Amino acid sequence: MDELGVAVLGFGVGRSHMNAYRQIPGVRLVVLCDVNEERLAQARQEFDGIETTSDMEAAVSRDDVHVVSVCTPDHLHYEHCLATLAHGKHILCEKPMTVSEPHAWDLVQRVKEADVRFAVGNVNRFVPQFAAIHQFVEEGRLGELFFVESDYIHDMRNVYERTPWRKDPVNPQNAWYGGGVHPMDLVRWVAGDVAEITLYANKCASAPEFPLPDTYISILKFANGCLGKVWETSAIRRVPGHVVNFNAYGAEGTMLTNTLEMEAKVWLNWGVEGLADAQTLPFRRTIGHPVLDELTHFVDCIRSGATPLVDALEGAKTVATLAAGLRSLESGKPETVNAGP
Ligand SMILES: NC(=O)c1ccc[n+]([C@@H]2O[C@H](COP(=O)([O-])OP(=O)(O)OC[C@H]3O[C@@H](n4cnc5c(N)ncnc54)[C@H](O)[C@@H]3O)[C@@H](O)[C@H]2O)c1
Repeated sequence: MDELGVAVLGFGVGRSHMNAYRQIPGVRLVVLCDVNEERLAQARQEFDGIETTSDMEAAVSRDDVHVVSVCTPDHLHYEHCLATLAHGKHILCEKPMTVSEPHAWDLVQRVKEADVRFAVGNVNRFVPQFAAIHQFVEEGRLGELFFVESDYIHDMRNVYERTPWRKDPVNPQNAWYGGGVHPMDLVRWVAGDVAEITLYANKCASAPEFPLPDTYISILKFANGCLGKVWETSAIRRVPGHVVNFNAYGAEGTMLTNTLEMEAKVWLNWGVEGLADAQTLPFRRTIGHPVLDELTHFVDCIRSGATPLVDALEGAKTVATLAAGLRSLESGKPETVNAGP
């Protein structure tokens, strides 16, 4: 199979994309684009003199680039995906796919027209114990789900220092999109489309200059009748600061997981008598996010023509759910989630 050339936009999390791509056979890192010259110089040192540019259009239009990882700040994803799609390249767009629902639906249509593979970086689907929940649900081993919950808990203080765009007064990162996208994607993965959402938010403990709420809690009603809860906070004082919890409760069993423990606890078919202890499923330890698994899957999809696990439609549905949450915050009422543009 022909070699796939890759361009990466943004050398923050883009650096872990580059580290992953260079471990995937038949993939060649071609060019990094960033507007920060210091980061470009650092990248040339770390990646054997890789070509660098600050001209995004020049990077994504090259004939030897077939795949683009969009790893720029959230509010630039739409613009950078449009520019890349115009050249017919495959895209791995970091999460959230966009920070606007109309932009998300527009990308779904444009990806279809361009006939390229498009994946969103909802990397938690590649965390083994979370994938196990999905597998147990798919196999019917938990029975009919009646409740799912997921939390994204992050002490962001040092992240704000490293990535000042997040607290930029003009385009700050909306933590409901930027952090809430992870747990919302997980609950949608196992319980399906959300029909209705109620959202509350406050701001307490994150950087004082951060201009938006830093804690969000939502109640979800899924189209299939399952209920759910998603909590996002960027404000917590806690080390290690980054934890994702993901739990699923069905008529036949319960499964509890989180990113601190590389295992899942499962209770299956417990009756009134003989309440059994949890079974523990151990998993291989991953260091940080499983980006290598995510990008290996994406490259496999490009080669086989298969649909990525989090394709444009999945990404857009999650954005639509988050957007309905923000409408609920405004209206103070439950809001319906749009099923399409
Ligand atoms: N999947 C995950 O778990 C995960 C983890 C971290 C970040 N992210 C996402 O990755 C994206 C980047 O976040 P980050 O933490 O890496 O931030 P970062 O600030 O470390 O990196 C972003 C880089 O983009 C560059 N940039 C800004 N504008 C640009 C432009 N117009 N053209 C080219 N480069 C430009 C910046 O100079 C910076 O180097 C965000 O969307 C974030 O939500 C995802």
